[in-house]
Amino acid sequence: MRTGFLIAFLIATPLLLVGCVSMALPRVPARLTAPAAAPALDGTGLASWETGRDALRQRFADEIYGEAPADDPARIVAHELIEAQAFGGLGRIEQYTLDMSGFETHLVVILPNAATAPVPTIILQMFCGNRTALGGREDIAPPPPEAHAPQCDGSIQNVPVRMIFGRYIMEPPVTDILAHGHAIALIYPGDIVPDDADAAAARLAALVPDRPSGAIAAWAWVYSRVVDVLDGDARFDADRTAVWGHSRNGKAALLAGAVDERIDLVIAHQAGTGGTALTRSGTGESVEAITSGYPHWFAPAFAGRASHRADMPIDQHQLIALLAPRPLLIGGAWRDQWSDPQSSFRAAEGANPVYHLYGSDGLTQPGLDEFDPAADIAVAMRPGLHGVQPQDWENFLAFLDAHFATH
Ligand code: GCU
Repeated sequence: MRTGFLIAFLIATPLLLVGCVSMALPRVPARLTAPAAAPALDGTGLASWETGRDALRQRFADEIYGEAPADDPARIVAHELIEAQAFGGLGRIEQYTLDMSGFETHLVVILPNAATAPVPTIILQMFCGNRTALGGREDIAPPPPEAHAPQCDGSIQNVPVRMIFGRYIMEPPVTDILAHGHAIALIYPGDIVPDDADAAAARLAALVPDRPSGAIAAWAWVYSRVVDVLDGDARFDADRTAVWGHSRNGKAALLAGAVDERIDLVIAHQAGTGGTALTRSGTGESVEAITSGYPHWFAPAFAGRASHRADMPIDQHQLIALLAPRPLLIGGAWRDQWSDPQSSFRAAEGANPVYHLYGSDGLTQPGLDEFDPAADIAVAMRPGLHGVQPQDWENFLAFLDAHFATH
């Protein structure tokens, strides 16, 4: 009787909470309501844009993210087969032990068994690590104890987390992704730089001695270290490598794409401030809120802009432009004002002149509500709040299918 009550309580409370919050929050308007805050990126010509790209990347390091660790390729320490016929025979699971500049982590890859040619791959960084991402399998290495969050342990505690943040917040829909012909690469960035201010500072000091750095720059670097491994293996198509991240992981995915041209497509879901949203917009999460709540994510210079973000000398439309002409999907939700979908839309519009230099149409949809999976920059909205829901993955797969056709 008591257990029944507890279970009902655990299920009803988050649902009620999500419902109330959802109804209380205003819906993001589908058409732009504020003037474009992004300064024009004049299309001065492809040659001069390409000449200036490295200097622009350096400005993002100086002003916002700090320096990434040195580009030493990941070293494969061990490589084992976990299961050849997993997910009802759809996929094959393998696990690598990797050394990234002296620190150990595990990469899990899942290949579609139906493949007859090199496959496109989507690299996922998730909140809870690889073991949780695969339903708590004991044969998948867990994060180290200091990086372990209680809501990730597969017990009853993560029921409310899933209800609030969506079915796929800690586990991707593996069978759907495999059925679309994509391989999955799972990497947990907290192994390299933990998402904790003190632990991150210590680790960053070891990885990037004597220079300002931040966790997002390091997590972006972790995506690149996975590309090192995939590009050395002919089973993965090196021309169809995507990175995916939600929220803080989405900020890292976007930065990874902007600095590493081996990445062919980016999905940045609800990445908000420090991600796809304009810093100068004055809406959504402020620089003050993000740098005081998460001081370890950025270089100290970014916090220095907290009270005068309008003076930022660069903005996120330029980071998006560094991806051009590679495809970018920006995911959002109608009641997620914090991650500020309107500012992301404006940033995407601001990147268009550079996409046009490459002959790409960039963002073509007239408002947030007209997702076009075939466009090179697309914004996909769904009802509800912050999190990863089934409809998000339908949108991600539609975008991947349109750009990485597997059939
Ligand atoms: C907080 C933070 C956001 C971030 C989010 C997340 O809400 O303020 O910037 O995107 O966490 O990573 O889920």
